[in-house]
Amino acid sequence: MTDASTHSLANTPAWPDDASRSAALYQRARAVMPSGSSRLTIFFKPYPVYAASGEGAFVTDVDGVRRADFINNYSSLIHGHRPPQVMAAVTEQLGKLTAVGLPTESEIALAELLAERLAGVDQVRYANSGTEAVMMAIKAARAFTGRPKIAKVEGAYHGGYDHAEVSQTALPDGWGDPAAPTPTPTYLGQPKGVLDDVVVLPWNDVAAARALLEAHAGELAAVLIDPLPSRVGFVPIAADYLAMIREVSARSGALLILDEVYNLRLGYHGAQGKFGVVPDLTTLGKIIGGGFPVGAVGGRAEVMSVFGFDTGRPRVPHGGTYNANPVTMTAGLKTMQLLPPQAFSRLAVLGERLREGLRRALSDRGLPGQVTGDESFAMLSLSDQPIRTYRDLVYAAQFAEAQSRVHAVLMNRGVLTSPSLVFTLSTPMDEALVDQVVAEVGAALGAV
Ligand SMILES: Cc1ncc(COP(=O)(O)O)c(C=O)c1O
Repeated sequence: MTDASTHSLANTPAWPDDASRSAALYQRARAVMPSGSSRLTIFFKPYPVYAASGEGAFVTDVDGVRRADFINNYSSLIHGHRPPQVMAAVTEQLGKLTAVGLPTESEIALAELLAERLAGVDQVRYANSGTEAVMMAIKAARAFTGRPKIAKVEGAYHGGYDHAEVSQTALPDGWGDPAAPTPTPTYLGQPKGVLDDVVVLPWNDVAAARALLEAHAGELAAVLIDPLPSRVGFVPIAADYLAMIREVSARSGALLILDEVYNLRLGYHGAQGKFGVVPDLTTLGKIIGGGFPVGAVGGRAEVMSVFGFDTGRPRVPHGGTYNANPVTMTAGLKTMQLLPPQAFSRLAVLGERLREGLRRALSDRGLPGQVTGDESFAMLSLSDQPIRTYRDLVYAAQFAEAQSRVHAVLMNRGVLTSPSLVFTLSTPMDEALVDQVVAEVGAALGAV
């Protein structure tokens, strides 16, 4: 792995620059892709830089500017770019087989590892994205319970499946009562039937969410929860809220789906281990693909049997041309094997150092703001109000301009973060790099 401390961060006032290769590529992209992009989260104004190569904790753009990568492909690159042992395993696999209309041993090995680590997972079913994993989990819950509805948290992001998207982008003009949020569409024309089949829960409000879950008890197939939701400001689930959801869902026959697509990296036993809950279904993605496209649903054998066909037609038919392709499986298995418990503890220590450093950077300058996150995540908000729910984050959007100025300064000081100032760590990072980044953020805060 790259020793991050041997690299100092460049002071490279290279962006934005109309004469750059990235600026030219962006203009070219605009002709053939709407807004020049295929992915909402990776765009920033006036144009995103285009990546050319990556190594360990660093990524280099097409203009030759190298930055410490604190995006890590939105949580998926837990070992950073091209970790040598993963690359060796993938290279060997590429010499044998890339995709095939047959199963391979690698899919069993990865499933065994996941079942061993995750308390709620006896069996696994693969897909190619987290979106698909969530969709399949919801379908499985419906087939298992014979019920149509799901409950989810206002603002929480679970990918692009219609029901999982409801109220993901709710705004004050439509979101209604904070104790009983109105299900809002995410795109124009989203069918009313979809909205009718989703119960939207307020985050960490035990009494209000309990009342909603109990009011819909007989109709709910599942409660879909991410315990550290990125779009709810990385505010962790409260222990009594999670306990209430587990208890009410079990009592009413609804399944608990824990969405760990983003958050499996919270610990060796996943987010479920960290938060002490055993879900009925777990959705996975990102890190279990080792840098390649992936999704998976895991769960209790009894629930997962809806995908099985031992006794005839499956209750949930599920296929997918690239499901469990051996390249992804090989990369994912090696990636997960390179994550013993001490790798997670080390990331947690680095994360705490980063969060503490960011908090100091704010207080040293007398700036309002808040640092949220846990384990290997940190989010810096410049809002003058505390962030506790999605609605606070919508209020905080008025500070987006100031945050994007910080992002822009960091871009020219060798640090790549998301425009919303989320920092995601990877194993090749070390204390020296974290301290450098904290110093750069401090300088950026002083400059905006
Ligand atoms: C919690 C959660 N669920 C699901 C998804 C969707 O995963 P994918 O982007 O692989 O479709 C994401 C993506 O960021 C996510 O954060």
